[in-house]
Amino acid sequence: MPVAFERGRGAYLVDVDGNEYVDLVLALGPMLLGHHPEHVIEAAVRQMDHGLQFGGQSLGEVELAERIVAHVPSAEKVLLTNTGSEAVQTAARVAMGATGRHVILKFEGHYHGWIDPFFINSPGVAAAADQRAPIPVVHNIAGQPTSADVVVAAWNDVADFDRIMAEIGHRVAAVLMEPIPFNFGSMHAAPGYLEHVAMQTRRHGALLIFDEVVSGFRMGLGGAQAMVGVTPDLSIFAKAIAAGFPIAAVAGSDAAMECVSNGSVTHGGTYNGLPFSVAAAIATIDHLAERGDVLYPQLQARGSQLADGLRALGAKHSAPLVVNQIGSVLQTFWAPHLPIGNYADAATSHAGPIAAINELVLAEGVHVAPRGITFISTEHTSEDIDRALSGFDAAMQRYLG
Ligand SMILES: Cc1ncc(COP(=O)(O)O)c(C=O)c1O
Repeated sequence: MPVAFERGRGAYLVDVDGNEYVDLVLALGPMLLGHHPEHVIEAAVRQMDHGLQFGGQSLGEVELAERIVAHVPSAEKVLLTNTGSEAVQTAARVAMGATGRHVILKFEGHYHGWIDPFFINSPGVAAAADQRAPIPVVHNIAGQPTSADVVVAAWNDVADFDRIMAEIGHRVAAVLMEPIPFNFGSMHAAPGYLEHVAMQTRRHGALLIFDEVVSGFRMGLGGAQAMVGVTPDLSIFAKAIAAGFPIAAVAGSDAAMECVSNGSVTHGGTYNGLPFSVAAAIATIDHLAERGDVLYPQLQARGSQLADGLRALGAKHSAPLVVNQIGSVLQTFWAPHLPIGNYADAATSHAGPIAAINELVLAEGVHVAPRGITFISTEHTSEDIDRALSGFDAAMQRYLG
């Protein structure tokens, strides 16, 4: 029976029957500051009082852009939109406008939203059987034709990337990736891989786009790009940047964004830069800037507590539970041995047991996504994590016993 939620506070959700859940979904990322972040809501409501929409620029947009430029290494100019999917489309348009080319190279298993043509070879679609052959483009709707303008590469595989770029690099407008592919695995690329991709992309005259919809401001105010030390030409932020309000941003270098500044690429959207979402994003960023020294290490510690606790439960129940964790994002796998690698490796995990345990744990008062991606907020205490672990213990006992 699906659960219907009624309200959220801090690390908890409450359903229509009054049951309370430790929330490890956090709306799949946005609720970095937990449910009902008081000061963010107050800032948004204050703005709503002044006006819902203007159909023209507001000072808040400039103030938000200035903050993003101050914190994100690659950001010199910023465009605002509402969702991650829209921001991906925007970034691709900018890359096409900037280069005069139309091919986008994406990586198998990376998720860039639900809009065509990028909703292909994403998590949920089977990994290519032969990772040494060119990866066929597979639409998320089985059997649907796909755009020929998006090419798919195996991530974390220098040879595959170089082969594709040698063939079609002169037609590639952008190489698009999640710098840390949270959608399939909370794992880092092999040392040197991202630097190699960045170097080869630029050598071929293409732009590098980092999709930081999950990682942006969740890994730190500089995003994953600050963490991995590789600076893209364009980056995409959404989810955590406004603590639950709908807003997304494309940040880029002056050179990449020139095609928008000079009007050759139009950035459309009735709801772009909604003033109350802008106010929420400013309040979120200011909070993280003021308290980040405490909050980010705390998120890391809670993430490690949950990851270590789950690994211990795997050992206790003799279950092949593999847990990847980077900061406040975890991914669980059900596989005897999971080499750190690419989507094909991650796809060797069995989805069934993970989904079954994550459904059983709901009855224990823990809300977690069926596919095992797990988020922690600044509101989760050590006791909340312990409470979640007790729930997992009981759910695993039921599943395996
Ligand atoms: C990396 C990444 N890019 C893009 C998107 C799409 O964002 P939205 O759901 O806001 O359209 C998501 C959503 O989960 C995502 O994880």
